[in-house]
Amino acid sequence: MRCLVTGVAGFIGSHLAEALLAQGHSVIGVDCFTDYYAREYKERNIIKLREKKGFQLIEADLLNLNLAALLKQIDWVFHLAAQAGVRASWGTSFEIYTHNNILATQKLLEASKEADLKGFIYASSSSVYGDTKQFPTPERSYLQPLSPYGVTKLAGEHLCYLYYKNFGVPTVALRYFTVYGPRQRPDMAFHRFLKAALMGGEIEIYGDGQQSRDFTYISDIVTAHLLAMEQFYPGEVFNIGGGSQTVLKTALDLLPQITGKEVKITYKPVQKGDVRHTAADITKAQRMLGYQPRVKLPEGLEAEWQWIKEIYK
Ligand SMILES: NC(=O)c1ccc[n+]([C@@H]2O[C@H](COP(=O)([O-])OP(=O)(O)OC[C@H]3O[C@@H](n4cnc5c(N)ncnc54)[C@H](O)[C@@H]3O)[C@@H](O)[C@H]2O)c1
Repeated sequence: MRCLVTGVAGFIGSHLAEALLAQGHSVIGVDCFTDYYAREYKERNIIKLREKKGFQLIEADLLNLNLAALLKQIDWVFHLAAQAGVRASWGTSFEIYTHNNILATQKLLEASKEADLKGFIYASSSSVYGDTKQFPTPERSYLQPLSPYGVTKLAGEHLCYLYYKNFGVPTVALRYFTVYGPRQRPDMAFHRFLKAALMGGEIEIYGDGQQSRDFTYISDIVTAHLLAMEQFYPGEVFNIGGGSQTVLKTALDLLPQITGKEVKITYKPVQKGDVRHTAADITKAQRMLGYQPRVKLPEGLEAEWQWIKEIYK
């Protein structure tokens, strides 16, 4: 199959592209190397990909591409390109979020109307739920994002559904819950914590440390996409979580065992847009896709630690 992966130089997109190639698919990757974080990380993410047969990189903003022409060569779209990050999405930055998360998605869907796609998989987020009170949270839970970022991810999801309903674009949305592992973005908590353990710095926690997340290891996220291709349900939305809810402080307590180092923690006020808890009800993905998260937190953190040591050596 001929696959398009948008956001291919990012954390998740680069892993997904490698997995698709390993399965014998060809991949065209699009990325414009936004400055949300340094380009050197993204270049490192795609070092192996660049050498692979069957891979082609197009460095461009989705909004400046002739997508109709591009999609003529494509069977499957994996739309991961986005401006990530909850805390940075306020104020004047919102324009960047609307550009990369809403407009780019709409343009890709518009071009998909005329294409002959087998599937269009959209990277959605647990942030669409906001501060829900229902745990674990099922897909049908009330959607009320707490951050501008969450609003743009939900808008993208709604756009996918309406292009499916009105024009038959075969879209599926996967709502990822806090993804971690090698290549994790440098603004994300475990990356910052493990880097601090290595370099001897301090870390800042926003809130009292009692907030919890459903951490999902990168290989489980990638597998969910491959399963969603095999068992394809156009118009559907699936939670993709790690299978358990972990209090942040508990995750931090694992770090000295993994890294052999103590890290000084400073507690800062809760940031606007941060939700208190996330926990995915993955029953639907288990039942319909056969999804089962495999990697537990200590094992996944160990793998991320090995990677952190490698990149900051
Ligand atoms: N990492 C997580 O925990 C998490 C959780 C939920 C959802 N998501 C979603 O998963 C996707 C990937 O996240 P990530 O953590 O890998 O982020 P990332 O920032 O590492 O990757 C996103 C990539 O998209 C590219 N991009 C952004 N706008 C673009 C545009 N207009 N044209 C072309 N390229 C563009 C960026 O340059 C970047 O390389 C995003 O859609 C994000 O919203 C991530």
